[in-house]
Amino acid sequence: MSILGKHQILEKNATLLLLGSLLVVSIGGIVEIAPLFYLENTIEKVEGMRPYTPLELAGRNIYIREGCYLCHSQMIRPFRDEVERYGHYSLAAESMYDHPFQWGSKRTGPDLARVGGRYSNEWHVQHLSDPRAVVPESIMPKYAFLKEREAAVKSIGMDLKANEDVGVPYTADMLASAEDDMRAQADRNADTAGLLARYPEAKVGDFDGDPSKLTEMDALVSYLQMLGTLVDFSTYDDATGYR
Ligand code: HEC
Repeated sequence: MSILGKHQILEKNATLLLLGSLLVVSIGGIVEIAPLFYLENTIEKVEGMRPYTPLELAGRNIYIREGCYLCHSQMIRPFRDEVERYGHYSLAAESMYDHPFQWGSKRTGPDLARVGGRYSNEWHVQHLSDPRAVVPESIMPKYAFLKEREAAVKSIGMDLKANEDVGVPYTADMLASAEDDMRAQADRNADTAGLLARYPEAKVGDFDGDPSKLTEMDALVSYLQMLGTLVDFSTYDDATGYR
């Protein structure tokens, strides 16, 4: 019997044909999908990415709690109009420590992926407290209450630990100093050498302008001010030519 003749056995037996097809399709599937589970292969390495500081992470929690993602995306697509408006298109590595990511799919307001450093802390506090005070046509809700609420310092260690459990490279040192780092980042008079050694380029200061307490406004503004500022694009080899 020739090879084609043997193939008749498969073609004439529905169960065998089904099993045979399943086998072939699974091999094809595994070859395509399995490499994606190894993030190292999927996410391009870039200079400058580091895990969130405890204060930034607390701010991110507030961002998620308040549903900011319902009106704001955090992903700049590689199209000329987006790149000219917002800056370099987003890289996969920029959200590699996000659990969950905040790409979003709705832009009632502008994309925030690179809003860090675009405005002063005072602008953010004023804008979040009363958006219409700085942008008269804004439809963004007011978040003035964030200035009154104390930031959750006690639980931040557990937050870091939870992120470490899902793969964010927080070290034992970072976990142990989570609460101190959170307080130090929002305190103009604190010794921040340790914080800056653990989290290079972290922005330090009294974000909400009220030194009397560490508020949710401090945390949220520290988060907004770091968005999109970590990657050093002068060292990034850009294949598309969009800048
Ligand atoms: C109902 C939709 C809506 C929600 C919810 C919302 N925003 Fe906005 N946001 C807007 C709109 C519209 C603008 C543009 C007008 C303006 O600047 O106020 C804006 C602007 C901004 C800007 C200025 C961006 C820029 O590049 O000029 C920031 C920062 C911002 N929002 C942060 C936040 C944060 C943080 C939250 C959650 C606490 C939030 N927004 C929730 C609609 C929203």
